[in-house]
Amino acid sequence: MSKTTEADSATVKNELNQFEQHYFNSYDHFGIHEEMLQDTVRTLSYRNAIVQNKDLFKDKIVLDVGCGTGILSMFAAKNGAKHVIGVDMSNIIEMAKEIVELNGYSDKITLLRGKLEDVVLPYKKVDIIISEWMGYFLLYESMLDTVLYARDKYLVEGGLILPDKCSIHLAGLEDSQYKDEKLNYWQDVYGFDYSPFIPLVKKEPLVDIVDNKCVNTTKTKLIEFDLNTVTVADLAFTSKFKVEAKRQDFINGVICWFDIVFPAPRHRKPIEFSTGPHAPYTHWKQTVFYFPDDLECEKGDILEGTLVCKPSKTNNRDLDIKIKYDFQAKGADSEERSVKNEGSFIMH
Ligand SMILES: C[S@@+](CC[C@H](N)C(=O)[O-])C[C@H]1O[C@@H](n2cnc3c(N)ncnc32)[C@H](O)[C@@H]1O
Repeated sequence: MSKTTEADSATVKNELNQFEQHYFNSYDHFGIHEEMLQDTVRTLSYRNAIVQNKDLFKDKIVLDVGCGTGILSMFAAKNGAKHVIGVDMSNIIEMAKEIVELNGYSDKITLLRGKLEDVVLPYKKVDIIISEWMGYFLLYESMLDTVLYARDKYLVEGGLILPDKCSIHLAGLEDSQYKDEKLNYWQDVYGFDYSPFIPLVKKEPLVDIVDNKCVNTTKTKLIEFDLNTVTVADLAFTSKFKVEAKRQDFINGVICWFDIVFPAPRHRKPIEFSTGPHAPYTHWKQTVFYFPDDLECEKGDILEGTLVCKPSKTNNRDLDIKIKYDFQAKGADSEERSVKNEGSFIMH
């Protein structure tokens, strides 16, 4: 497979807006791909799902949306696909070409440089779409839009999408010390008052590993998407939630994570993984939204509310998230402890 240059791309990078250029540049360097490849929960789930569906991959045309280093394309080719088309807009595709050739898959895998929305595929339709499109809080980066575009344009009727189900989950958490440290740091920076940063810090969800012991309410599913049918419009969503405190504690905010499920042959357990605090580490970690209040909870108190998530108007790869909450304390001091409030967040 011969090397190409930016001039061979179906998309002219310089003509993309600054946010898009920044987004695709972020996938140019090998470091981010190394992190994804080394995430064994992620990468082995894809491999296992392809192996589990080997019968369905046999002699099929497969489209790998956002192929990166080509790992999913090679899993598909190795497991019987007739031909795989990998598409990527970032420079990393040049490395993918070298790797595919080095591993002897050049005749089975065609790699195309450019945005999926702009490239011309060598096939009118494909039988299977594979893609690893998930961002923090599942939807950050909005790459799912591209997968849905590919589905609507290229997937044959009844074709397969891997993965095909995903869901976002929420629970309350106690994390007082970390929250204090994160906010109070700005009160005194080498003797200077940096407090104007505090409102900005409060708006930003924290992506980090959370100890499962910090989760102090029941958990709930916020939303589920079926990739066979979901539309881009559905990805801007409003979900109600209701969780119950499991112990006397503080609730400093909520923690969210997502689960992924692959399609499985009849009577087989689907390959799935979770990015929750109860599950093994993934590079997506968890996303924490600290509330403006620290809620004093007793076992059995109810935290209910609404989470609104939509792509940001300035950059649709960012997310605007608003959480309204109504904390209903029980018992003699319920009036003092009950709180209704909201927090606005931006993931960028
Ligand atoms: C999360 S990485 C996954 C890479 C690889 N599939 C893997 O599993 O290691 C997503 C890749 O999709 C590419 N990408 C995102 N949106 C794209 C689009 N609209 N057209 C082409 N490539 C895209 C990015 O450049 C990036 O390399």
